[in-house]
Amino acid sequence: MKSKGIKDYDLLNMPVKEAYNALRENVRAYNKEEDIKTITVLSCKPREGKTTMAINLSISLARINLKVLLIDANLRNPVSVSHFHNNNNDIGLTDYLTENVSTEDIIYKSTIENLYCISAGTKYPNPSEQLTSIKLTELLNVVRKRFDFVIIDTPPLGSAIDGITIAAQTDGSILMIKSGNVQIQTLREVRTQLLNFKIRVLGTVLNRVDKREFKRHYSDYSYFNNKKNFKRNLAESKKSNKVKLHG
Ligand SMILES: Nc1ncnc2c1ncn2[C@@H]1O[C@H](COP(=O)(O)OP(=O)(O)OP(=O)(O)O)[C@@H](O)[C@H]1O
Ligand SMILES: [Mg+2]
Repeated sequence: MKSKGIKDYDLLNMPVKEAYNALRENVRAYNKEEDIKTITVLSCKPREGKTTMAINLSISLARINLKVLLIDANLRNPVSVSHFHNNNNDIGLTDYLTENVSTEDIIYKSTIENLYCISAGTKYPNPSEQLTSIKLTELLNVVRKRFDFVIIDTPPLGSAIDGITIAAQTDGSILMIKSGNVQIQTLREVRTQLLNFKIRVLGTVLNRVDKREFKRHYSDYSYFNNKKNFKRNLAESKKSNKVKLHG
């Protein structure tokens, strides 16, 4: 199997490390109860921290000896080139969806033990159409048998349907929200969209909360909330006074 480097993040920063570990434990708890394995990372707007979270969550899971696959499904603005230390001509998800390419050809072993990745692949027109291919369903079926967890990074919901298309085929999703960045009305619309497509939101992560706020509230950091709390979170995120990850 070919291998690739992956940028390791600042896991020595204790509050951040703690937050990712807690997120990991919540994900594992879901997995134990209901065999939740394939997880899509979503956000309403660009640059809310999806990729950062997808990579760190994947690393956090891999570090406790779980076999993890990270898929870059942001076909519009792939991050794999920089984050996976990719070569521009490496094949990936789009090549699998459109060409006669096997899973072995696109799954790379990363430099982190137990962590594997699939990069976005060659840029083709109409990424949304590619994602409706039956081959995506086939790929997810294959990888869910081979890995303990599959984490999928997507483009923001506001700019493309891709996140919804993928999330509708995975066991659950995590919604990343950058503190103070998203209007409550936008969150309500996204929630309706997710409900309409029967997408299961495992929880929300409120990202980049002010450090002073973190210090004031860190004893109360419930950064990963279950579906029951989702509605309440929408209201709370407006106030932005619950600390999840700080930046
Ligand atoms: N908790 C944080 N603290 C500090 N910086 C952060 C944090 N989370 C993300 N960032 C930074 O914010 C920027 C955007 O993050 P990232 O690329 O993960 O967002 P994204 O949602 O994947 O963006 P896109 O929608 O473009 O794919 C990056 O420069 C990243 O390093
Ligand atoms: Mg991204």
